[in-house]
Amino acid sequence: MTIRTIIEIPDPILKQVSSPVEKFDDDLKTLVADMFETMYDAPGIGLAAIQVGMPLRLLVIDLQPEDEDAEPEVCTAHGGHEHSHQPLRKEPRVFINPEVFDASEELSTYSEGCLSVPEIYADVERPARIRARWQDIDGKTHEADIDGMLATCLQHEMDHLEGIVFLDRVSRLKRQMAIKKLEKLRKAA
Ligand code: NI
Repeated sequence: MTIRTIIEIPDPILKQVSSPVEKFDDDLKTLVADMFETMYDAPGIGLAAIQVGMPLRLLVIDLQPEDEDAEPEVCTAHGGHEHSHQPLRKEPRVFINPEVFDASEELSTYSEGCLSVPEIYADVERPARIRARWQDIDGKTHEADIDGMLATCLQHEMDHLEGIVFLDRVSRLKRQMAIKKLEKLRKAA
């Protein structure tokens, strides 16, 4: 597995519309493995293929990236005997050629960030629940109702497939402030 370079705004590659994945072959498996490696290393909870320069309708998500360095927590609260709590398990999810075909009118707001827009966070409003269809790494089709953090994350990553980053969904003023902050951070680095 290889950690790939994450493309950041304002690189025009991020504005490309990605094409459907057609071949479910070893190259695809390598790309997916590399994307997980890259996302965990960053660290982040979602990554679309276009963010590593591949214009394919493919994204990976893990809302519980395991902290490799975390010691299992020792708990003595239950009747005095010791037992350890395991750190959160990794929960890798792959969405290939995802589509949303139903979305709730109810919206939810999360403070979003993006590996292509480092250090910047902004509140974004999106449908709270969606019905989605996608393919897995073997090309098998899945369909599910999705809500909560996963719904937000999936919609954020699906925006990347259309060449949209979350800052495109906030007010012009907020976007300009965020870009100025990003430029300052880059100069300081
Ligand atoms: Ni993003």
